[in-house]
Amino acid sequence: TQNYRITLLPGDGIGPEIMAVAVDVLKIIGQKFDLKFDFQEALIGGAAIDATGEPLPAATLDTCRNSDAVLLAAIGGYKWDTLPSNLRPEAGLLGLRAGLGLFANLRPAKILPQLIDASTLKKEVVEGVDIMVVRELTGGIYFGKPKGIFETETGEKRGVNTMVYTESEIDRIGKVAFEAARKRGKKLCSVDKANVLEVSQLWRDRITQLSQEYPDIELSHLYVDNAAMQLVRAPKQFDTIVTGNLFGDILSDAAAMLTGSIGMLPSASLGASGPGVFEPVHGSAPDIAGQDKANPLAQVLSAAMMLRYALDQPAAADAIENAVFQVLEQGDRTGDILSPGTKLLGCRAMGESLIKAIG
Ligand code: NAD
Ligand code: IPM
Ligand code: MN
Repeated sequence: TQNYRITLLPGDGIGPEIMAVAVDVLKIIGQKFDLKFDFQEALIGGAAIDATGEPLPAATLDTCRNSDAVLLAAIGGYKWDTLPSNLRPEAGLLGLRAGLGLFANLRPAKILPQLIDASTLKKEVVEGVDIMVVRELTGGIYFGKPKGIFETETGEKRGVNTMVYTESEIDRIGKVAFEAARKRGKKLCSVDKANVLEVSQLWRDRITQLSQEYPDIELSHLYVDNAAMQLVRAPKQFDTIVTGNLFGDILSDAAAMLTGSIGMLPSASLGASGPGVFEPVHGSAPDIAGQDKANPLAQVLSAAMMLRYALDQPAAADAIENAVFQVLEQGDRTGDILSPGTKLLGCRAMGESLIKAIG
């Protein structure tokens, strides 16, 4: 039996609801594949603020560091939205990413054939979409200094953030992206704003330099405004996309809608070494929290990514993905992916259906 220490961070809003489904799925997968998961639950986000006053208690970071992988649901909610930024739930998530050195965020957006009718876009546009967004996760405008709200000489307030990338930060995310493209369709599109921003000019130069080491990969560049438009106009032109922290955040939400719902999109946040964090692309969905309405599939697919990328258990990951495929094939749907002729289930019932499918 293989033993794995998994830290669970359910967080806020729909977080605990979708995490419960993912844990049930992992337990049954464990039985089937002779894997033992030692789950440790820890506090992050609003839940941690309420219990300890801090969005990322030191004990949580320690527990994560001492595990083989971290499964995170989502953080944030109305209740904490007026706190200063360093005490908000989001600061907990950013601190976790920085604390574990998770500079590479892989966000696959692949449409499942069963969900073509769930997309708001035309069938011809989305059929066959299979994109990997490689988002830089520990740099850029999220972390650059100076940052803060300062007072000017005239007594006016001035909000400041700074978009910064160093050559080494660009190179390491670039390598991850070229390697990812090599395992996929061998096409990489780097997205920046090099027509305006110096930070993007450096980004484009370094990515272009790096491409000499990857002659088998076809590299292109797009400005982020055009990239957003192209993603909606003709998404099938994209294979792998590499971009900075903020642009990647925005483009991956846009890419989510190609697949039917943001409730379907998993992600993996990886560093050079140490445990990775596996988390849905969506947030805590406070508008539907506590109502058993959330789609747990992004969370369940994040658990599959954990098995694939962190625990090297591809067969177990395949089994989860096949179960997702099967319940969708049966017509099981949560509200966000409902279409004519399919059956509306709650979050828990979707979980039960998955368990049955895994058998
Ligand atoms: P959100 O992703 O939480 O929700 C956007 C919309 O999508 C909402 O209408 C929501 O109901 C829906 N949605 C999201 N996930 C869903 C799911 N699994 N099933 C069904 N519907 C789903 O984004 P938001 O409303 O802008 O942010 C809410 C809170 O979440 C904020 O506090 C934000 O900071 C936080 N957030 C956290 C993460 C994270 O933890 N990784 C990511 C994004 C946003
Ligand atoms: C995400 C979220 C986070 C981000 C927030 C909650 C800090 O939107 O994971 O996409 O902006 O990275
Ligand atoms: Mn986001």
